[in-house]
Amino acid sequence: MGIEVVVEGLTKSFGKQNIWQDVSLTLPAGEVSVMLGPSGTGKTVFLKSIIGLLKPEQGRVLINGVDMVNSSERDIMETRKLFGLMFQDGALFGSMSLFDNIAFPLREHTRKKESEIRRIVMERIDIVGLLGAEGKLPGEISGGMRKRAGLARALVLDPQIILCDEPDSGLDPVRTAYLSQLLIDLNAQIDATMLIVTHNLDIAATVPDNMGMLFCRNLVTFGPREVLLTSDTPVVSQFLAGRREGPIGMSEEKDAATLAAEQQGDTALLHTGPRTVVPQLEPSPGMPVRQGALRRRERVTSMMGQLPEAARTAILNSYTPAAGGARA
Ligand SMILES: Nc1ncnc2c1ncn2[C@@H]1O[C@H](COP(=O)(O)OP(=O)(O)OP(=O)(O)O)[C@@H](O)[C@H]1O
Ligand SMILES: [Mg+2]
Repeated sequence: MGIEVVVEGLTKSFGKQNIWQDVSLTLPAGEVSVMLGPSGTGKTVFLKSIIGLLKPEQGRVLINGVDMVNSSERDIMETRKLFGLMFQDGALFGSMSLFDNIAFPLREHTRKKESEIRRIVMERIDIVGLLGAEGKLPGEISGGMRKRAGLARALVLDPQIILCDEPDSGLDPVRTAYLSQLLIDLNAQIDATMLIVTHNLDIAATVPDNMGMLFCRNLVTFGPREVLLTSDTPVVSQFLAGRREGPIGMSEEKDAATLAAEQQGDTALLHTGPRTVVPQLEPSPGMPVRQGALRRRERVTSMMGQLPEAARTAILNSYTPAAGGARA
């Protein structure tokens, strides 16, 4: 089952450029979380810091007692084996078949026999719906298929923590919907802790249990999906509505004068009232119950008192099956 990831006071800079500071959050075991944020806010840097590929200068990332920032390189390498990582671009080797690409981590990191490798690889290829394409080269398949191959490769070492960097980039809306369902089904099947970085508002609205957002070198917020989806924090509501009006500009923040001029204008645009929270995706028929969802329900119930009114209402509504629903 999934493992909790505790991030405490993380600060990362490159030279004089601070990327984000004092980021603290917990990815609850076996739950699905999404990190949002405009381009360049350091989402990829955040994923790489969690897995210990980049070193923040302050803070800790605790996984099973190992600190991915400060522990010995040996402990970090060992803990890294718990991860499955799906890169922004799929990162497949162009001269290898899909089969060999997906088998690569097994050949590299384990001493499994070829017959065992074949069994595992074909099982993962089946999960992501690529049966029949295993002999093809990455250049011979579509971008969406490459994405799924990248996901299959992230799955071969039975990861307990899965990090996906923009799994939807370059996918059409239908493929994105299939991918969303695939991520939820995967979570139901293996109960791994998942963190997905995405710009896609449909994924953000329907997939995760928890959501956070990076902006202006800070973690704006992180918590149950309903908190962000009903938030009236300007930067969050602007992002979720995909509006130009608000604090986010073309090159990240707008200056104060632009923002003030905007607010003189049509303030109605900035206050669109409470948004409706669409239901979260359920696993496909025949899939196991999501253990993460059961644990989350208990967890969220115990923190109800600290949540804003709008989020509480949305959570309570999600507990009531829709009229005419399957459980009526
Ligand atoms: N190895 C590095 N050395 C120096 N600067 C870096 C390095 N990696 C990332 N950066 C800088 O950190 C900032 C955040 O980059 P990052 O790739 O994490 O953004 P992002 O939120 O993932 O953006 P996008 O949504 O476009 O993928 C950028 O300004 C980038 O130039
Ligand atoms: Mg990125």
